[in-house]
Amino acid sequence: MKPGSKNRRRKADLAKLNLPSDVEMIERLRAFVLRSGLTLVDVGTMAGVHPSNIGRFLSGIYGSDTIEIRAAVKELIDTHESVEQNRLGRKHYRTGAFDEIQAAAWSALRNGTAYIVDGPPGTEKTESFRRVEHKINTSGEGRAVYVYARVGHTPKPFLSEVCAAAGIPNTGHIDPLIRKLRFFLGHGRILLIVDEAQHLGNEGLEVLRQLLDLPPYFGVMLGGSHDLTQRLQHWQMEQWRSRVRKTIFLTGPTKAEARSILRAELGDLDDDLCDATIADCKAVAERVEMVRGKPVRQQFTYTSIRDLFGAIEVAQQTLTPNLTLVPPARPAEKESAA
Ligand SMILES: Nc1ncnc2c1ncn2[C@@H]1O[C@H](COP(=O)(O)OP(=O)(O)O)[C@@H](O)[C@H]1O
Ligand SMILES: [Mg+2]
Repeated sequence: MKPGSKNRRRKADLAKLNLPSDVEMIERLRAFVLRSGLTLVDVGTMAGVHPSNIGRFLSGIYGSDTIEIRAAVKELIDTHESVEQNRLGRKHYRTGAFDEIQAAAWSALRNGTAYIVDGPPGTEKTESFRRVEHKINTSGEGRAVYVYARVGHTPKPFLSEVCAAAGIPNTGHIDPLIRKLRFFLGHGRILLIVDEAQHLGNEGLEVLRQLLDLPPYFGVMLGGSHDLTQRLQHWQMEQWRSRVRKTIFLTGPTKAEARSILRAELGDLDDDLCDATIADCKAVAERVEMVRGKPVRQQFTYTSIRDLFGAIEVAQQTLTPNLTLVPPARPAEKESAA
């Protein structure tokens, strides 16, 4: 074989792959770096490319022969995007809570309005937000940007994360970050979803106010638990509050929904066995409703969908090989058997 012929053959193979152009690939790589939080060294290591070449490629000074680096970078990004697809590829049960969140998200996107989703842990908030985000982002009708507020998230890292999630350069101080978000997101329909928004301290809420108070008006969904509704009510967000259309209070799946999930996962269980399992997944939470401007605390019981899937997992491990659940014998049956 002539020297260099292997290399030529590899390049000919790569040429057949119809790889994205330099401009497209650079755009995808920039968005990927921001979204993933990886450094260029990380990207280089993972893609098997020298990090300085990643930097040169991103700056457009790599040279004309970019086919190999485009192939390596594309493979890295595709692999990670397929992990995301797998997450969304898991079975999703259509519930009333999901339908309500989905309808609210589209309305917020189309009208620049806001919704609060207030529900204790295990009431489908995150799952619904991520699915709706994906639907909007693949619809061509607008952009949804999902951010998770961490405990003690101070304004700057929070805004950096919003920028990263939106694929916008995320360095700089608070004011330039807000300006950048307004500028880059101001052109189309945008829905900003902030999950666990109760974690934003007063400074975080103030930053949110700065972001939302002035045009361009983004659609907004704030999800969270505990005293989210009350805190937002008390916070100085008059402008913003006038755009809040509704607070959606979540109380977990209904009994009918929980029964149908159990049956879909575990086979044809009778009502009693379903209901006993559902009863084990009950949790108590408190919510604050504003009644004529005054906070009213209310305790309520709900079914945690997280616990329900936990119970399903345990039951699946105890399934007999022919896939029927062995129910615990009821006292009456024990007596008659005796
Ligand atoms: N409709 C659904 N179909 C299937 N799995 C769901 C559904 N809703 C929630 N889950 C799963 O239940 C768990 C808890 O839901 P999650 O959305 O994280 O609750 P929350 O954010 O309200 O605490 C997650 O593992 C999630 O994937
Ligand atoms: Mg959640």
